[in-house]
Amino acid sequence: MSFARAYENIQRKADHVYAALHEDVEFHKLSAGFEKYSFGHEALPEIDRNDIDMSITLLGKHLSMPLMISPITGGTPEAAKFNRIFAEAAQRYGLAMGVGSQRVALEYPELDWTFKVRDVAPDIPLFANLGAVQLNNGCNIDSCLKIVEMIDADALMLHINPLQECVQTNGNVNFRLLSAKIGEVCDLLDVPVFVKEVGHGISARTASLLADVGVAGVDVAGAGGTSWAKVESKRSVDSISAGLGESLGEWGIPTTDSIVAARKAAGNLTIIAGGGVRSGQDIAKSIALGADMAGMALPFLRCAAISAEALFEKIEGLREELATVMFCTGCKTIEDLKQAACFCF
Ligand code: FNR
Repeated sequence: MSFARAYENIQRKADHVYAALHEDVEFHKLSAGFEKYSFGHEALPEIDRNDIDMSITLLGKHLSMPLMISPITGGTPEAAKFNRIFAEAAQRYGLAMGVGSQRVALEYPELDWTFKVRDVAPDIPLFANLGAVQLNNGCNIDSCLKIVEMIDADALMLHINPLQECVQTNGNVNFRLLSAKIGEVCDLLDVPVFVKEVGHGISARTASLLADVGVAGVDVAGAGGTSWAKVESKRSVDSISAGLGESLGEWGIPTTDSIVAARKAAGNLTIIAGGGVRSGQDIAKSIALGADMAGMALPFLRCAAISAEALFEKIEGLREELATVMFCTGCKTIEDLKQAACFCF
């Protein structure tokens, strides 16, 4: 790869983090939908709050609560610093974590160290990451193997981001027959393959296509949190792309709708609720609506930009809130929470 292209890819990653930290990149008109649901309060929960067990098993590993630090970054020294803070937090609190797209490290192997976190997080379920559209753009099963081995990942997470690619100048928009290529990766890779959106949601049709080709799980990454049309619009230097990102900035399937649709369409897949999850109560509602766990990106990035301690405090707050919601609904375990009634207004 030419130095100019490598520089462009690395700069794009840095721009994404800059926009996420300093610009208004979230949905405002469309919400993730959590406010439309509420739990019934149980004044006699009949359990001891100290007995609540929020743990789950993911990829054969123990999580202390059903939460992951969603894929965010890599490729620059600043990104490496963020990845190490995320990994330290994930190890400390028993969470899962994904690194950001490793395409740049495939093309520019000198950057692989910016994604490596196993030395600080030996025990966490760790996801490698690549844009699925790269499977139509020169990447193949070997590329997937390489990125999994690069970071000693437990699974691969491919992201599907058609709207983001449209708003990005010179984005990759050939999504032709991509589900079949994803299926080949599922067949040939020796670790499970998950697929995620990046903030515009997974429909019932997409979830069912993904289930049919053999993915192990889906992160719905629905609308209501970070809008990738807005992120790309903010960093765009061409006015047509910027306008497109602005006008489609509120596009997508709200996260709560996407969870329900994906669970219905894709039966027993592991479902991760991402996109606009902002509180312990949102995590609880995600699970009651059909997800197995939740994921968060922007709030964790903004905390990590302050300090590792700020991120630790955020996670502790989420833990307390999730445990309190479970207590006030009489749920002792995550399996109980899956059965809890969550009313839609
Ligand atoms: C992301 N996200 C993302 N996803 C992915 O699969 N690969 C990636 O490289 C990135 N990069 C990235 C950078 C930054 C700065 C952010 C904020 C996010 C998407 C992320 O994992 C998540 O799905 C969405 O951001 C929606 O969740 P939130 O931000 O609303 O919690």
